[in-house]
Amino acid sequence: MSELKNDLFLRACLREEVERTPVWMMRQAGRYLPEYRATRKRAGGFLNLCRTPELACEVSIQPVELLGVDAAIMFSDILVVPEAMGMELTFGSGDGPRFPQPIRTRADVETLSDLNPEDGLDYVMATVRLIRRELAGRVPLIGFSGSPWTLATYMVEGGGSKHYSIIKAMAFNDPSTLHLLLDKLSDAVVAYLNAQITNGVQAVQIFDTWGGILTTRDYKAFSLACMQRILGRLIRKHDGRRVPVIIYTKGGMGWLEDIADIGCDVVGLDWTIDINKAKARIGNRVALQGNMDPAMLYASPERIRAEVKDILNRFGDGYGHIFNLGHGITPDVPVEHARAFIQAVKEES
Ligand code: CP3
Repeated sequence: MSELKNDLFLRACLREEVERTPVWMMRQAGRYLPEYRATRKRAGGFLNLCRTPELACEVSIQPVELLGVDAAIMFSDILVVPEAMGMELTFGSGDGPRFPQPIRTRADVETLSDLNPEDGLDYVMATVRLIRRELAGRVPLIGFSGSPWTLATYMVEGGGSKHYSIIKAMAFNDPSTLHLLLDKLSDAVVAYLNAQITNGVQAVQIFDTWGGILTTRDYKAFSLACMQRILGRLIRKHDGRRVPVIIYTKGGMGWLEDIADIGCDVVGLDWTIDINKAKARIGNRVALQGNMDPAMLYASPERIRAEVKDILNRFGDGYGHIFNLGHGITPDVPVEHARAFIQAVKEES
């Protein structure tokens, strides 16, 4: 494997010394970029884009070349996992993901097949290998998966949801069925992330986007416990380097100590906590990723820079900060503002 020219991101994940704070953005390959929209059009839709390694590779590298981020993230979606386990998945124009036949009963769970990533998600593995080749060591490549709980919310609700009433009713009325589903998904996530690692991703992030809708007790039982068991089964060293694991639970800032305790290398912060407080609580054990409000990218470049400085000052001395947004970049952000954000982190840190 080629030497990495810029390994700031990987070093920061391990709280090693860095010359400046590395930066990338969740959802950095996305609709705010006209170049992304053009490639998606050539692919003939979002899922086709995910399934075409040459084009998925192209959009993964766009933010590296256009914005100068310090890491690439492989282009795919968390929901290709349930699709590869046998569920029909559609992305309607504008209205997000849909599973027309959601999981509602134990029998539904039992119909899900085990995931064999080298078979059902071979196109993701081809994408990973291609991105590594095309990056040629410019920056590290991040792989990812949804958390079992977050995947389950989409599979049970049938798409995005406002109240999560169906999956919560399942959790309260029929917890053994939900646990069976979560166990199947945990096995799938382990197989999927390990395959990404052996194919070349250099760090992995688990997106637990909907962990924060749960009570503390239920977060621990239905989300955190799964992620802990996954962590125990992941390949943690590959190609002579540690493969850092980032756990991001949106809305999970009340549980930072519990998250740090499961053995991850990095804890992702949303924007609802001051990073100095997060650092005081868990900064001696893990690195922190975040945590600018994604809506700040609607402000002027001067205001964005002031916010970047504030977050850098709050983090203060020492290592172990990966600058990022507190959640994904939104589709209508001006590209100039995203570029100003990346520039500001590089210049101010
Ligand atoms: O970060 C990246 O640049 C890599 C690609 C990536 C996508 N989705 C591409 C995508 C990643 C890491 C994801 C993760 C993902 N997908 C999550 C977890 C992170 C988060 O944002 O909370 C979730 C919950 C999903 C499920 C999903 N995919 C939803 C709810 C939607 C529709 C809403 C939306 O933002 O459009 C998607 C579609 C999606 N995934 C798009 C992209 C670029 C937009 C599709 C399009 O091009 O029209």
